[in-house]
Amino acid sequence: MRVDIEKVKEIVLSAKPLFMDRDESANITVKGAADYVTKVDVNVQNYIMNALNEEYPDIQFMGEEKDNSDIDFSKKVWILDPVDGTTNLIHDFHGSSISLGLADNKELVMGIVYIPTSDELFYAEKGKGAYLNGERIHCSVEKELSKAVVGAGSSPYYKYYTDLVFDSYKKMFMDISDIRRIGSAAIELAYVACGRLDAYTEAELKPWDYAAGKIIVEEAGGKAVDYDGNEMDISKPSSMCSSNGIIGDMLVGEYLPSIKSLIEAKQGYEK
Ligand code: IPD
Ligand code: CA
Ligand code: CA
Repeated sequence: MRVDIEKVKEIVLSAKPLFMDRDESANITVKGAADYVTKVDVNVQNYIMNALNEEYPDIQFMGEEKDNSDIDFSKKVWILDPVDGTTNLIHDFHGSSISLGLADNKELVMGIVYIPTSDELFYAEKGKGAYLNGERIHCSVEKELSKAVVGAGSSPYYKYYTDLVFDSYKKMFMDISDIRRIGSAAIELAYVACGRLDAYTEAELKPWDYAAGKIIVEEAGGKAVDYDGNEMDISKPSSMCSSNGIIGDMLVGEYLPSIKSLIEAKQGYEK
């Protein structure tokens, strides 16, 4: 069955009242170090999962707040983060989004990032360009690193990367215009797609953090690779350097840590 993006956009948009429920966002459970889940995360996921299952019963569903061990990535799969930016949601910081991607045999074919507090809906389909509330969007054309503004993801749940990540950002900061940290990977990717940011990088994102944003960036003319400059595998966690397609190559290698150094930092921490 063909997936109609208009139908999927409607489903995502109609989750807004659940997303904006301030009582449910105060209903918090601790998942891990600095990692929280609220009733909003669960309610939005259940609502979107049920609506998609009803409309597209043959497509698998991967969601942050469920067990995903049975997902077969050789077939179609929805990849949902019901609330990307849960810490922002808890703090009423207005930097949270719903991120929904669709992959087919590990290739991203659709992505939607919705920011309910600003009513901004970013979306893209493979080969059809990227859009914000119906208007075509493009990445920036910034060529000079010294003028670039870069979203600097802090990998908040993986404190073992702190030295590597912040040392690399310190070096990068000296050569660029400025850094930003919004606190939602999906929003930072959407911002790269529309030129508000020239690049965004973060070590170890989960598929639901980056699936939708990756295809939106690529359809807006940008590029997204891992910290070694290689293709990302959508079925796995990955580091990510996304950019307007021009300055990303300058960040990989010169500033961002290698994947080998990230693995070593994690192993050293676990010993
Ligand atoms: C997190 C946010 C945050 C990023 C983390 C993500 P969550 O997602 O995108 O900006 O730094 O890496 O895990 O936990 O709010 O869904
Ligand atoms: Ca997330
Ligand atoms: Ca989340």
